[in-house]
Amino acid sequence: MPKKIHLEPSRTLMEFRLLPGLTTEQTLIHNISLRTPMAYQEEEDSKYYLNIPIVAAAMQSVSGVKMAIELAKLGGTAFIYCSQPIESQAEMIRQIKRYKAGFVPPETVSPDMLIRDLYELTRQRGYNTFPVVDEQKHLLGIITKNDYDVKPHGDLTVKERMIPRKELTVGVNIDNIKQANTLLRETHQSVLPIVDEQDRLLFLVFRKDIRNHLDNPHEILDEHKRYFASAAINTHDYMERVPALVEAGVDFLAIDSSDGHSVFQQKTLEWVREHYPHIPVMGGNIITEDGFDFLVEHGARAVKVGMGSGSICITQEQKGTGRGLATAIIKVAEARDRYFKKSGRYIPIVADGGIVNSKDIVIALALGADYVMMGRYFARMDESPTEKVTIHNRVMKPYWGEGSARAREWKEARYHQLIFVEGVEGFVQYAGKLRDNLPETLAKIKAAMSSVGAANIRELHEKAELEVVSALSIREGKAHDIYLPGSENDYTAIDWGN
Ligand code: IMP
Repeated sequence: MPKKIHLEPSRTLMEFRLLPGLTTEQTLIHNISLRTPMAYQEEEDSKYYLNIPIVAAAMQSVSGVKMAIELAKLGGTAFIYCSQPIESQAEMIRQIKRYKAGFVPPETVSPDMLIRDLYELTRQRGYNTFPVVDEQKHLLGIITKNDYDVKPHGDLTVKERMIPRKELTVGVNIDNIKQANTLLRETHQSVLPIVDEQDRLLFLVFRKDIRNHLDNPHEILDEHKRYFASAAINTHDYMERVPALVEAGVDFLAIDSSDGHSVFQQKTLEWVREHYPHIPVMGGNIITEDGFDFLVEHGARAVKVGMGSGSICITQEQKGTGRGLATAIIKVAEARDRYFKKSGRYIPIVADGGIVNSKDIVIALALGADYVMMGRYFARMDESPTEKVTIHNRVMKPYWGEGSARAREWKEARYHQLIFVEGVEGFVQYAGKLRDNLPETLAKIKAAMSSVGAANIRELHEKAELEVVSALSIREGKAHDIYLPGSENDYTAIDWGN
């Protein structure tokens, strides 16, 4: 006899609808917050909150540097895939961290440097502006390419050509881009140095970067004002991979595995907790309460839920393992709430695999997920690391599973075996820029929350009322019995009677 047989079928997200609750002024769309915890933290740290409940999957065809930066600007995060050599993954994290997030950690020069050498440095680095500091990092001045001409000034020193400190407007201990903007607006400078109370240089804020930042009110930054960076790891080479990623500046790690209820995840979680206690790790994927309890007991600070439901996933067909994503979320959310009651530790859960659109996202959240991970959704965007192709006159982008033949070289890391594939390789319809697609998705999520009467995701968990729908009611929920020119709907199935 098996240990247990569940005779109730497991459910998918598509089978649920939300019932409306009372909408109030507080739950009008513009008052709704989508902020959600990314990982459990002993001490509150705003860095570990997402401003939108959406993250991009750790996949070769989804999450590269461009996606990670753009999504961080828009309030989410993309997990840089680990199906690549350690050094190239660490370099991707470095690129995210180097990207200018308004407050740029400055590369400084000394006052005694020769202009000739400064010119060389400018050429190598591609920057035109260098702050000049003494050995204790006190600001002495700024030198830009407009302050010298290498031919006549080559043998002079930087201090002879720089704009001296007394002529500069600086910001003292400012960490708010709007404040920096206000100061910079009143000067003729192209750059605002930010110093501490002792006049030691902290950051530079460039005029040209400010507009960019004011456009991104939801961006997620680390404590050095660099974009937040997340990465996937595996249970094989974590002892080498994690140190390289931490060194590169990673903020959040997720163990990438199709079956996370394993002693290998236990070892990985315990090792990271021992060596890098400040870096939270997401465990998963799991689909049972036992799986959740196991990962949390061994140190997971977020847990990813889902098996066999991804758009490119054939795990269920190949191995017979899996569960409808809705049932998996319901069960794991129960375990999370039980654990919270018992311990006071709230471990966010992440719904992953098969989430197609805003409707699926909001159902996943209402069932108890704190945020969702998607692959297909992001693979369609400009920022995914693939090239567009035209197939049957449609612009597409390639999309393949981490367990597909295409990712075969690295398959073992996620799937522990090389004999059969667990994912497919295909195409998704190109959708344009992430920035042009995400607002519509978020607006629909907020509209649903408004109907439920939930001002935030926590309230959605508490107030949502859901119902399983029949196949016929799903049909009823689509446009029906009207002829839509150009659509693929069946003209003969329309009831033309009265
Ligand atoms: P999607 O959003 O439906 O495309 O699903 C993305 C999710 O599928 C990822 O976050 C992974 O959990 C999962 N996944 C990625 N590659 C594979 C694969 O090759 N086989 C099975 N699942 C996969």
